[in-house]
Amino acid sequence: MNISLQDLIRRRKSVRTFSGEPLRAEDRRKLEAFLQTVENPFGVPIEFRTLDAKENGLSSPVILGANSYVAAKVSRVPQFEIAYGYNFETFCLFAKSLGVGTVMLAATINRSAFEKAMEVQENEVMPVASPVGYPAEKQSVREKLMRKGIKADERLHFETLFFENSFAESLDPERAGIFRDALEMTRLAPSAGNKQPWRAVVCGDKVHFYEKKAKAMQNDPLGDIQKVDVGIALSHFDLTLQATGITGRFAVEDPGLETDSQTEYIVTCEVKR
Ligand SMILES: Cc1cc2nc3c(=O)[nH]c(=O)nc-3n(C[C@H](O)[C@H](O)[C@H](O)COP(=O)(O)O)c2cc1C
Repeated sequence: MNISLQDLIRRRKSVRTFSGEPLRAEDRRKLEAFLQTVENPFGVPIEFRTLDAKENGLSSPVILGANSYVAAKVSRVPQFEIAYGYNFETFCLFAKSLGVGTVMLAATINRSAFEKAMEVQENEVMPVASPVGYPAEKQSVREKLMRKGIKADERLHFETLFFENSFAESLDPERAGIFRDALEMTRLAPSAGNKQPWRAVVCGDKVHFYEKKAKAMQNDPLGDIQKVDVGIALSHFDLTLQATGITGRFAVEDPGLETDSQTEYIVTCEVKR
C-alpha cells in the first residue's frame, strides 16, 4: 500500500453509489488473494466469498450501480462477532487502498438471497455483506440524505469514548502516550447506525475495551451487531499499533471496573514494552 494506514482510515467512507463498472480482473484477483490471508487476533476463522449480484439475485435498496458483493459467514463460537468485525473492516481498508468502495450492510439487503448464496448453515451467521466497485462521481440523493440523517460524518469526542484507570476519568489525548494514535483511529471507525458503541479504559500497558449498548440494537437473532462494531474498532486499534511496530496481545481478562448497566466488558489489549 502506498498510502499510510492512518490516511486510509481517515479517508474511508461508506460508498453506496457506484459507477456501474464491473470490478477489474486485477482488482478482483488482489481482493480475493487478500481475503484468503486476512486473520484476527481471536483465532476465529471467517469465510468470505465474492458474489455476482445478478447471478445470485442480490440487491439493496440503498445501493446503486454495484455488480458484485463480498459477504462473509462465521460459526457461532466465542468472540465471533468481534472477530468478524475485525476481518471485515481489515478487508474494507484494503479495498479502499485499491480505490474500491465498500459499505457494510446489515439491515438494508435482501438477506435471504445473500444467505442462500453464502450457504449459511444452522450454526453459522452472516452479519453483513458489502458491495464492491468503483465509487460514482456523485453520491445519489438518497445516499446524501441517509448520511445526513445518521450524521455519518461525525464522531464522538476522544474524551467521551476513552478513559484512564476507571470510567470516572476521561482520557486526555495528551496523556494517552503510545496509545494516542491507535485510539484516535479507533474513534474514526464505522458502525451500524453510526452509534460508535466502543469504549476503552487505559490502565498502564493495558487497554480494556467495552461495548456501550444501544437498547434498540440488542436481541437480534443474528448476534449482537454492536459487538461487530467493537471488532471493527479493534481492527483500527490493532492495525495502527502494528504499523508503529507495537505488538498487542488480546485476552479476555475482565479487570472488574465499575460500569453502568449498558456497558459490557469485551477484551483487553496488553502491550509489551
Ligand atoms: C455493522 C454495520 C452495519 C451497517 N449496516 C448498514 C445498513 O444496513 N445500511 C446502510 O445503509 N449502512 C449500514 N452501515 C453503514 C453505516 O451507516 C456507516 O458506516 C456509518 O454511518 C458511518 O459512516 P462512514 O462508514 O461513511 O464513516 C453499517 C455499518 C456497520 C459497521
